Amino acid sequence: MQILTDKMPASQVQTDALIVPVFEDAKETRFGAGDLAEAGEIAGKSLELTLLHHVPGVAATRVLLAGAGKADKFTSAELRKLVAAAVRFLRGKSVKKVAFEPDAAHAGPDFVSAAVEGAILGNYEPDRLKTADPKKSLEEFTVVGSGQELETAARRGQILAEAQNFTRDLVNEPANLLPPLKLAASARQMAEQYKLDCEVLEQSQMQALGMGALLGVAQGSAEPPALIVLRYRPEQAGSHAHLGLVGKGVTFDTGGISIKPSEGMEKMKYDMAGGAAMIGAMRALAQLKPPIPVTAFIPCVENMPGSRAQRPGDIVTAMSGKTIEVLNTDAEGRLILADALAYARQQGCTHLVDAATLTGAIVVALGHLNVGLFANDDGMRDRVLHAAKAEGERMWPMPLDDDYKEYLKSAFADLGNIGGRWGGAITAAMFLKEFAGETPWVHLDIAGTAWLDDAKPFLAKGPTGLPVRTLVRLAMEWKD
Ligand code: BES
Ligand code: ZN
Ligand code: ZN
Repeated sequence: MQILTDKMPASQVQTDALIVPVFEDAKETRFGAGDLAEAGEIAGKSLELTLLHHVPGVAATRVLLAGAGKADKFTSAELRKLVAAAVRFLRGKSVKKVAFEPDAAHAGPDFVSAAVEGAILGNYEPDRLKTADPKKSLEEFTVVGSGQELETAARRGQILAEAQNFTRDLVNEPANLLPPLKLAASARQMAEQYKLDCEVLEQSQMQALGMGALLGVAQGSAEPPALIVLRYRPEQAGSHAHLGLVGKGVTFDTGGISIKPSEGMEKMKYDMAGGAAMIGAMRALAQLKPPIPVTAFIPCVENMPGSRAQRPGDIVTAMSGKTIEVLNTDAEGRLILADALAYARQQGCTHLVDAATLTGAIVVALGHLNVGLFANDDGMRDRVLHAAKAEGERMWPMPLDDDYKEYLKSAFADLGNIGGRWGGAITAAMFLKEFAGETPWVHLDIAGTAWLDDAKPFLAKGPTGLPVRTLVRLAMEWKD
């Protein structure tokens, strides 16, 4: 979709549809909204959409009155959703070109970015492999207004949302078409396009590094593993910080020998959503150029119950030297992340964030609306929470007290890879904490939030692309 700006007054912009936010409490009287409000036809309730044709004095073919709710509750996150819902509504009506004028009270850079993001995210449909009846999509989105600040914000929004959609495409790709080496090839191609450094460690290199935890998971599949490393370096680093982004890249999770029930197993292609988010974030960062070096590490494996698969009871030695008793082969994400976190530290990262579809237990705890956030450092936790709030990606802090470690006891190794029945998301995070060591670190459990089971008015069913925007903002706004 093309993103444009236009300095003409909104009423004079030539377009198929002009989106006009209508607030609940403020009486919008332009564009015929006054009469409709009087007649009780519109109330300005959030996401209420009313399409008008041939509005006198308006050059646009249509006006879409878009309910925005209460003006004082209207954040950039609300605007993103509103524009996305409007775009999804309009594209069903063969509309190709849409314009939007931010209202004066909500026109700062974050609002402009959010409007553009809403348009691009709403226009996305995961239908690449459908050969019949593709959904119609918009071709052009115009922000009404002018000036350098607006241009910059619009461009930023475009970069972010396109990166998020890139992540969604990777996540939605079925596991037969995107095994570890193909995922690595996609990352490499993206890196070439945006001038990032890309290195892919293969099995023999991982063996040399002693990554026994990662390799133990990989050995059940005929698909070889890969460890993707994407590097961004600023021209002039203004600080000593080096951010490491570590993402779970299980291209398919059958559970291994501790096999999952067949119902719903098809969804386990999204078990690489954390890794895909890191690749998407790097795509945006390559263009937006944050002030600090950022390196992404994506351990990629397929968790299969092949004849060479690891068994429950097997003991593996991680790169850090710790031994792990694999009590359940379905708790594989933490095993591959253990070695990726250790490698990220060895590579000089001073701060770490990982994202992983790690546990069903986080869905029990938080449902599908909040990412579970765990940290070993309060400062790092607050940085991520702050970025997440600004981006409208909801996250909720979870506990990581030291005594949870007792849950991971093994009779025969340093650690077991599962805890008992309770607090499953916490014990998984506790396991990772052992490998983050002293490095300030945040773990994001996105099992409940990386995939949408039923479409929303503003978002297609399927991959959401979380938490790309939070990660990008975290790096962009980095201050020591
Ligand atoms: N990939 C799953 C977690 C998951 C579950 C993601 C549901 C998305 C939706 C992970 O590898 C897993 O299987 N975790 C187990 C851990 C258990 C064996 C301790 C789980 O959550 O059941
Ligand atoms: Zn699993
Ligand atoms: Zn998994």
